[in-house]
Amino acid sequence: MSQGRDGFTTAFGALMATLGSAVGLGNIWKFPSLTGTNGGAGFLLVYLAATILVGLPVMISEIMLGRTARADAITSFEKLAPRNQWWWKVIGWMGFAAALLIMAFYSEVAGWVYAYIFKSLTGEIATTDPKAAEAVFGQMVSNPWSSLIWQWIVLGLTGFIIAFGVSKGIEAVTRRLMPLLFILLLVLCVRSLTLSGAGDGLAFLFSPDFAKITPAVMLTALGLAFFKLSLGMGTMLTYGSYFRENQNIAGTATRVMLADLSVSLLAGIAIFPAVFAFGFEPAAGPSLVFMTIPAVFTSMPGGIVFMTLFFILTAIASVGAILSLLEVVVAILSERFGLPRKTAAISTIAMIAVLGVPAALSQGTMADFKLFGLNMFDLFDFLSSNILLPVGGILICLFVGWVYGLAAPEKRLAEAGTPVQRVVIRSVFFLVRFVAPVAIAIVLLNGLGAF
Ligand code: TRP
Repeated sequence: MSQGRDGFTTAFGALMATLGSAVGLGNIWKFPSLTGTNGGAGFLLVYLAATILVGLPVMISEIMLGRTARADAITSFEKLAPRNQWWWKVIGWMGFAAALLIMAFYSEVAGWVYAYIFKSLTGEIATTDPKAAEAVFGQMVSNPWSSLIWQWIVLGLTGFIIAFGVSKGIEAVTRRLMPLLFILLLVLCVRSLTLSGAGDGLAFLFSPDFAKITPAVMLTALGLAFFKLSLGMGTMLTYGSYFRENQNIAGTATRVMLADLSVSLLAGIAIFPAVFAFGFEPAAGPSLVFMTIPAVFTSMPGGIVFMTLFFILTAIASVGAILSLLEVVVAILSERFGLPRKTAAISTIAMIAVLGVPAALSQGTMADFKLFGLNMFDLFDFLSSNILLPVGGILICLFVGWVYGLAAPEKRLAEAGTPVQRVVIRSVFFLVRFVAPVAIAIVLLNGLGAF
C-alpha cells in the first residue's frame, strides 16, 4: 500500500468489499425480473456467456489498472496513459457521471426496499392479492415525499459509512454483512423449494427457449453483466486501487463472479418456485419484487416472517453496492480535488439527492415527462446500464489490450506462473484484446438498432 493511502487491510476484506459491490439490487430486483420478462433460461445462457467472456476479463483489467495506479478513476488513467494521450481519462469522467446517474435511481429502489421492511412488519403488504399489493406500491411511489424521504434515509446511512473511509467504513461493514446475506438467502431458498409445485419455477429458470433471444435481449443481458459486476465505470478500478500488492487479482475476480452468480441463481430459486407454486405471473418486470413478492409470501405458511427476512436481505445487499458507487465519486473528490473525506461524502450525497428528485417524481407527478420515450427513472437506468457501462467497457479493454498491457505481476504470471496461471492470464488478455471489445460493440450497436 502506498504511504498514507487508505486501503483494504486483508485479502478477505478485499474479497468481501468487492463481492459487496457486485451483489446488490441487481441480483434480487434486476436479475429475476429481467429473466422473467426475457423468457427464462435462454436469457440466462446469454447472460452467462456475457459474464464469462466479457465481464470477467473487464473486471480483472479494471482491478489491475487500479492496483497499479493507486489512484481514483480519473487520475489512474492520467498516470497510466502515454503522455500525449490525455483523452483516456475521459473514461474516469464517464464513470463519475455514471455513478451519479445509477445512484439516482438505485438509491430510490433501495429506499422502497427499506420502506417494505416496515410495511411487512406492520402487515400493510400482507395481502394475497397482487392488485392490492400494487395499490400499496402505487401509493408509495406516486407520493413524492414518501419516496424521497426513504431515498434520503438510504443516502444518509451509506454516506455516514463512506465518510469513515475504506478500511474502517467499507471493509468493516461489508465484511460483516456479506456472510449474513448468504445465510438469509439459503433460509429463503429452503422455504421456497419445500412448497408443493416448486418444480415449475425451476423449469422456468433452467429450461431455455432460444426463440426469445433477440438483439435487444442480448443487449439487456450484456448490460446486466456489466451492471451486476459493477463494471465499465471505474468502480472495480477504484476498489483495485485499495487492493494490497500481493492480492491475487484473477483469483479474487473469479471468486466474486462465481459468488455473484450464485446469489442471483439462489435469488431466482428463492423467488420463481414460490411465484409458480401460488400461480402468479413470472414476467411481472421490475414490479415483481414489490407487487408479486408480497402476495407470494403472504400466501405461504410463515409468510410475514419470510417476507420481512426477504426485504432485510435485499436492504443488506444494496448497502455494499451503494458504498462502491459512492466511493468512485468520493475518491475523485477527495483525492483529485483535495476535499476532506467528510466534505467529499456530503457533496456526493447532495449531488445524488438532487438527481434523485426527477427519478422519484417520474413514478408519479412527472410520469408523463419523457425523453426518448422513457421517463427519467428508466432513462437514467437505460443510459447508464445500456450505454455508459458498455462504452466504458470497450474503452477499458482497448486501453489495457492495446495501450497499457498487463501490469508487471500479471505479466510475470503469464510468463513464469503455474500452468493454470499462464493459461488464465493469457486467455484473459486475449479476450480483452480481441473478443470483448468487438462483442460489446456488436451487441451495443445491434441492440440500439444500428444494423
Ligand atoms: N453490482 C451492483 C448490483 O448488482 C450495482 C453496482 C454497484 C454497480 N456498483 C456499480 C453497477 C457500478 C454498475 C456500476 O446491484
